[in-house]
Amino acid sequence: MKKRLAILTGGGDVPGLNAAIKIITELAIKDGYEVFGFRKGWAGPLRILRDREADNSKNIVSLTMESVRKVSRTGGTFLHSSRTNPSNVKEKYLPEHLRGKFESYPVDLTEEIVKNLKFLEIDTLVTIGGDDTLSFAGRLDKEGFKVVAIPKTMDNDVWGTDYCIGFSTAVTRGVNLVTAFRTPVGSHERIGIIEVMGRYAGFTAWYIGYLAEADRFIIPEINFNPKRLAKMLKKDREMNPSRYSLVVVSEGAVPEGGDMHLSGEEDAYGHKKLGGIGMATAELIKKETGVDVMFQNMGYLLRSGEPDAFDRMVAKTFGIMAFQQIKKGNSGVMTVIKNGKYAVVPISDISGKSRKLDVKRLYDPDEYRADVKEVMGIPMFGY
Ligand code: F6P
Repeated sequence: MKKRLAILTGGGDVPGLNAAIKIITELAIKDGYEVFGFRKGWAGPLRILRDREADNSKNIVSLTMESVRKVSRTGGTFLHSSRTNPSNVKEKYLPEHLRGKFESYPVDLTEEIVKNLKFLEIDTLVTIGGDDTLSFAGRLDKEGFKVVAIPKTMDNDVWGTDYCIGFSTAVTRGVNLVTAFRTPVGSHERIGIIEVMGRYAGFTAWYIGYLAEADRFIIPEINFNPKRLAKMLKKDREMNPSRYSLVVVSEGAVPEGGDMHLSGEEDAYGHKKLGGIGMATAELIKKETGVDVMFQNMGYLLRSGEPDAFDRMVAKTFGIMAFQQIKKGNSGVMTVIKNGKYAVVPISDISGKSRKLDVKRLYDPDEYRADVKEVMGIPMFGY
């Protein structure tokens, strides 16, 4: 019987996922493997019915040369995604066939996953995700199941790697959108406030602010003073011959004495939705300065659409590396770029940690903008 490899994508989608899926599929098929894609992240393997007669086509699909041929041209993930955490499943997210089987919730269904993977005779699983999805990959490895991980997230905050698939496209999109936003803000001589996703790390806000040359940018790593920011933006506007100013605010930014703007229910990994700090800051800036403001939330547009060239490159390279690890029989490893070089690290190293922007080296917390101190010798994404 042929060896069986399966791939899944979990968490927020990013451009580049399909390119990684495609190259792994092609390499594996050429090497004699049978390749499968689980649908909807960890929900796919969780919902498998262990019955040879059952229809599992909503949870797993066969990947062929033909089915992956065109996928790398598009963003998102054609396998679909979810924030399912098999070790922490609430009653309402239980697969239909497991309803009524447990006394208390949430339940840890790791054992179900292992049984399902064995039932499907999957030899190795490639998981492409951010720290949440990958934390469960680490758990599976501990249970003795073979997993190889690939990091992706537009936040670029997975521990152990300089780079995660999706980051470059998000920054490219952000720079283009901020540049475009100059036209209405400039034409009406206003103060423009742009909110960008990025959760608890400032990489997206910093790179977009720095490269699009916004006057100020607010990152989650440093609490900011909204009144002081308002004064700065008023002055920036006065100094600008085109009479406008711009600030990029990370969704995870925290005002001094205030809190992160969170809403809704916690997901299975304990995260609530972020967002709202941009609008709140815009209202305050208008009140403080008397200048009309324009607020724009970049939202999901940063991770929408097709991957840029850099994300295609990293996705393909991570895909090749992942397959090479599988061929070597390795498990519990994650592909990374470390100090500018492609490498692998144990998944166990990343658990419970996340990367933050190196504020000391890159940011002036008094001026709310970049202050790049050392560049000689640092790797491309070592910022
Ligand atoms: O972690 C990636 C990310 O895009 C964050 O920047 C953002 O806070 C979050 O996902 C949005 O989550 P969702 O896709 O569930 O709305």
